[in-house]
Amino acid sequence: MPSKAVDYAHSQHDRFLEELFALLRVPSISTLPEHAGDVRHAAEILVAELKRIGMENVRLIQTAGHPLVYADWLHADEKPTCLCYGHYDVQPVEPVEEWHTPPFEPTIRDGNVYARGAVDDKGQMYMHVKALESLLQAHGRLPLNIRVILEGEEEVGGEAIARFVAEHPEELTADFALISDTEMFAPELPTLCVGLRGMIYTEIEARGAKTDLHSGMYGGAAPNPFVALAQIIAQLKDAGGRILIPGFYDKVVKPSSDELRAWESLPFDEEQYRKSEVGSSVLTGEAGYGVLERTWARPTLDVHGMPGGFIGAGAKTVIPAKAVAKISMRLVPDMTPKETFALYKQYVESLRPKGIELDVRLIHSGDPIVIGTNNPYVKAAQNALHQVWGKDTVFIRSGGSIPIVGDFERNLHIPSVMMGFGLPDDNLHAPNEKFHIANFYRGIDSLIVFLEEVGK
Ligand code: BES
Ligand code: MN
Ligand code: MN
Repeated sequence: MPSKAVDYAHSQHDRFLEELFALLRVPSISTLPEHAGDVRHAAEILVAELKRIGMENVRLIQTAGHPLVYADWLHADEKPTCLCYGHYDVQPVEPVEEWHTPPFEPTIRDGNVYARGAVDDKGQMYMHVKALESLLQAHGRLPLNIRVILEGEEEVGGEAIARFVAEHPEELTADFALISDTEMFAPELPTLCVGLRGMIYTEIEARGAKTDLHSGMYGGAAPNPFVALAQIIAQLKDAGGRILIPGFYDKVVKPSSDELRAWESLPFDEEQYRKSEVGSSVLTGEAGYGVLERTWARPTLDVHGMPGGFIGAGAKTVIPAKAVAKISMRLVPDMTPKETFALYKQYVESLRPKGIELDVRLIHSGDPIVIGTNNPYVKAAQNALHQVWGKDTVFIRSGGSIPIVGDFERNLHIPSVMMGFGLPDDNLHAPNEKFHIANFYRGIDSLIVFLEEVGK
C-alpha cells in the first residue's frame, strides 16, 4: 500500500485527532430545539474545514430543518464521481449521570476517545474529510471526482436531505455513494454493510377525561389512558415475539440461502453477545430465527417511552387525562413505511378501549435497503480493505437505519459503499459512546486507498 497520501495522514495523526475533538465539543443534538444553534455551529466548522483543505463550491445549504453542508472537487475527467455522505448531528446524552466523563468533553481512555458522536457519526464522517485532505496534500489533486453532502438531522429522520435529493438530484450526480456510519462485525475484521432496516417512528396519544382527576374520587368511573395504552401495546406482539398487526409480514423477503449461509460462517458467539453486549438473562425475539437474522432481516416493534401522567419521585394519586406511547417499527425489504403505517394505524384503532380517544401519528420514517455487491466499487473496497487490514472483507447487514441510503438508490440510482469502522461495543446512542482511535486512523488509510483504487 505505498501511498504518499497515507504517509501524509500518518504524519498528521495528532492534529487530526485534535481537530476531531473540536467538533466533538459541539453539542449538536438534532432532536432538541435548544441545540439548534449548536447543530448550525458544527455545520459551520465543517464548511470552514472543507474550504481550508481545498474543496470547492463549499456551502451551507439552508433547509426547513438543520442545514446541509455541500462541497465538491470535479476535475478528474473521465474518472468516476464519489458522493461522500455523513451526518454531524448526534443523539441526546441522557442519562448523563451514567457517563464516566462528560459527553461533550472528549476524553481518551484505553486507546478510545469517549464522547457523544465519537463514532456516530462525527468521528467516522471526519475520516472522509481527513482522507480528502491527505489526498489533496499529497498530490495537489484527487484521484477521482468527489461530492460531499453532510446532514444535521439523520438522527431525527433526515427529512431535509431527502427533500434535497428528491428536488435537486442533478446537484448530487455521482456513480456511487461512500458512507462511514456503520460497524465492523468484530475488531480487526474489515466489513462492508450491504443492508439496513427501515423504520417508522410513531406516537399513540390516548385521551380519556377532560382533565386530570383524583383517582380515589373517580377511579372506577373514569377511563385511564395509560391502562388503555398498556392494553393496546400488549396486543401488538405475542409472547413469542411475533407482531400481531394483520398483514405486517406480507412483504417481508427472506434473505437468500447464500446470504444466510455466509452469516452462519461469521465469527458470532451468541452467549458472549448476550452477556457482554446485551447484558440480559436471555435473548428474546421470534422463535425459529437466529440472532443475526432477527436483528438484520426481520421487522421488529419496540416501545421507547410513555410520557405523561405523574413521573416524579414519590406518589401522586391521579388519573391522567392523556398519555402518549412512543413506538417504532424496524422494516425490511420489501416493506414500505407508508403501507406499514397504514396497517398499524388501522389495527391500533381497532383496539381502542371504550371511553378513549386515540391519535396515531407518524413522526418520521425511512425505507429499508439491501444493496447489490456486484459492482466495481465493492471490488475496489474489498481490495483496499485487504491492503490496509490484511484480511478478506465480510459482508453484513445492520439492524440500524440510515434513511437516505434508500433515497440514493431510488432517486440518484447509485449504489452505496458502506465502509464503517465502528465496533460492536462502541455504545452508540448510549452513555459512554466511544471510537477506537486506531480505527479512526486505519479508517482514514482505508478510505484513501479505496479512493485511489477507484481512481486507478
Ligand atoms: N449510524 C446509525 C445507524 C446504524 C447503527 C447503522 C449501527 C449501522 C449500525 C444512525 O445514526 C442511526 O442511529 N440511525 C437511526 C435512524 C433513525 C432515527 C431514523 C436509527 O437507526 O435509529
Ligand atoms: Mn449514524
Ligand atoms: Mn445514530
